[in-house]
Amino acid sequence: MARVFVTRTPVGDGLERLRAANHEVDVWSEPAPPPQPALIERARRADAVICMLSDRIDAAFMDANPQLKAIANYAVGLDNVDLAAARARGIPVGHTPGVLTDATADLAFALMLAAARRLPQSAQAVKDGEWGTWQPDGYLGADVVGATLGIVGAGRIGEAVARRAAGFDMRILRSTSRGGTPLPELLAQSDFVSLHVPLTPQTRHLIDAQALQRMKRTAILVNTARGPVVDTQALTDALHAGTIAGAALDVTDPEPLPPDHPLLQAPNALVIPHVGSATPRTRAAMTDLAVDNVLAALAGEPLPHPAPAPPPTTAP
Ligand code: DGY
Repeated sequence: MARVFVTRTPVGDGLERLRAANHEVDVWSEPAPPPQPALIERARRADAVICMLSDRIDAAFMDANPQLKAIANYAVGLDNVDLAAARARGIPVGHTPGVLTDATADLAFALMLAAARRLPQSAQAVKDGEWGTWQPDGYLGADVVGATLGIVGAGRIGEAVARRAAGFDMRILRSTSRGGTPLPELLAQSDFVSLHVPLTPQTRHLIDAQALQRMKRTAILVNTARGPVVDTQALTDALHAGTIAGAALDVTDPEPLPPDHPLLQAPNALVIPHVGSATPRTRAAMTDLAVDNVLAALAGEPLPHPAPAPPPTTAP
């Protein structure tokens, strides 16, 4: 029998498979995430952990927990885990690829449509009693059909967004680490720019003041990847200055974004709280993949959903 520490209550009944295999499951059941000392301490009594994207799984955590046979991240993104440190210590790391592709692509598209057609502004006007008589020029938004969509990072989720965009007859440009349209050109030509890159040293602040300056003044930026891919201060400034027309963000830097953060005062900033994968079916599937990873590791087998090789540690 082994012990598995789970740092939040996951969705679905996947943990039952751990119990059925006679493993002890220790779930952090408090509403707030474990503070770092508690995270380290509780993991000390475990043979494997299932952790969340908000848990910092760094070298210090691993040094305090050399007994771990697996770190199973309950996310596809792995920027919260020091992959190089895990590799150096021989601790296998897993994640949850594939199962959240459609939910996240749906959300990216929902954000794009909502920002284009100014849904938050018009819904707020109704609540504020400002629904006057119908006006020919009331709440005019941007056309999506036939517009150009720039997809930055065409992995699974970027490609799923492209499939949705095809249904809207959009012209699609892709910029990836392997090629496609060079990023400056994509930014200059796109009416919507949707980010789908992992957070690495190379992609941190990929969208900075200079990148925002390259975009059309009518363009909308959509981020469902990771907050630090965008320079928050530069984006806030760009929205105030009208450098771009809007931003629709599922992820921010910092996260959670405090309610008094200047980004929330910027015009045409639509911000939601990192819910790309938040459907019951998707979250239960993520639990299943994390459990598959742990069961394999505890049986001495390779993880079925291993983390990719760690990215280089220095920016180019
Ligand atoms: C992920 O998996 O990386 C998402 O951001 C949350 O599901």
